Amino acid sequence: MQQTDTVVKEDMEFVPLINPFNGMPLQKDNETLVDEQNYRFPIVNGVPRFVPNDNYTTNFGFQWNKFQKTQIDRESRNSSQSKERFFAVTDWGKEDLSGKNILEAGSGAGRFTQIVLDYTKANLYSFDYSDAVSANFRNNGHHGDRLKLFQASIYDMPFPNHSFDKVFCFGVLQHTPDFEKSVKCLIDKVKSGGELIVDFYPVVGWWTKIHAKYILRPWTKKMSHEKLLGLIDRNADWLINTTNFFNKVGLGKITNRFLPVCDIKGTLPPNLAKEELREWVVLDTFDMYSPEHDHPQRIETVKGWFEKYGMKVTHANFITYGDNFKAAVVKGIKN
Ligand SMILES: C[S@@+](CC[C@H](N)C(=O)[O-])C[C@H]1O[C@@H](n2cnc3c(N)ncnc32)[C@H](O)[C@@H]1O
Repeated sequence: MQQTDTVVKEDMEFVPLINPFNGMPLQKDNETLVDEQNYRFPIVNGVPRFVPNDNYTTNFGFQWNKFQKTQIDRESRNSSQSKERFFAVTDWGKEDLSGKNILEAGSGAGRFTQIVLDYTKANLYSFDYSDAVSANFRNNGHHGDRLKLFQASIYDMPFPNHSFDKVFCFGVLQHTPDFEKSVKCLIDKVKSGGELIVDFYPVVGWWTKIHAKYILRPWTKKMSHEKLLGLIDRNADWLINTTNFFNKVGLGKITNRFLPVCDIKGTLPPNLAKEELREWVVLDTFDMYSPEHDHPQRIETVKGWFEKYGMKVTHANFITYGDNFKAAVVKGIKN
């Protein structure tokens, strides 16, 4: 795949913006978006804001602004994991996406925003419920008009239904309060004949929730973000050494689920330098223990919801990428 900086086509059809709460069209007026009834949404740090920051995702706003560059391929000498995962899961590397309107739901600091903008010719609409959008804008705002970024909820998106050629949502749905409703809201935004792809934490068996994360989360998610991050940071070194030891002696699969640290071997890029690895571990462990919501689902259940809300399912299984990592993926085409 060639890296590209192609400018948006002159004749591209843009998706109109609407007030998500009354459906009225929005216009830009100085540093706000305004509808005919004079409802206004502020543009802060380059990003229109449809929701306040103090919602259930403040942990993510904190996390992505602190670790703005950690998972961005462009910023790393030793990881191309975002690109590998994005193209393995979507298979969009084989398609010419010039002039297509793509929607990214729950973009965090923009690791996949970067990939779409740098490696395809699509026009990207992207949003997140948290102030992570400020980090994403600093990472990807230089793409100008090809990136349209918003702070909004998956339940109240500022676009009309049936607007997008493609919609993707990676690593987000388990962190929303109502997984099924989130899937339905995403399907609503896909054009007839358009595609939706989601990846998420899967339930693989009764043992999925027998894990340090699910045992400790009732306490850790209530801790202040600074306190939790400090605790993880202070314990990172011995946790990394212990995990590595168990992996080396071949016991990692059994023991590591009881260590309060992310799955180093199963999820992190293999060639990170020592300091980079530590940073990824602290970020990913905070990402596991701080969210308000963590509701993994069976792949079959998500497939059923796709069908229930009008999608023809084209894939419902794990997809392998990079160094034998696995993502639980459901894909479909809208009837
Ligand atoms: C684990 S992060 C994943 C971010 C990004 N997709 C990535 O893979 O780096 C989950 C993201 O989902 C966002 N999120 C959670 N609930 C949301 C909602 N209702 N609407 C939009 N975004 C939401 C969070 O703010 C957070 O940034």
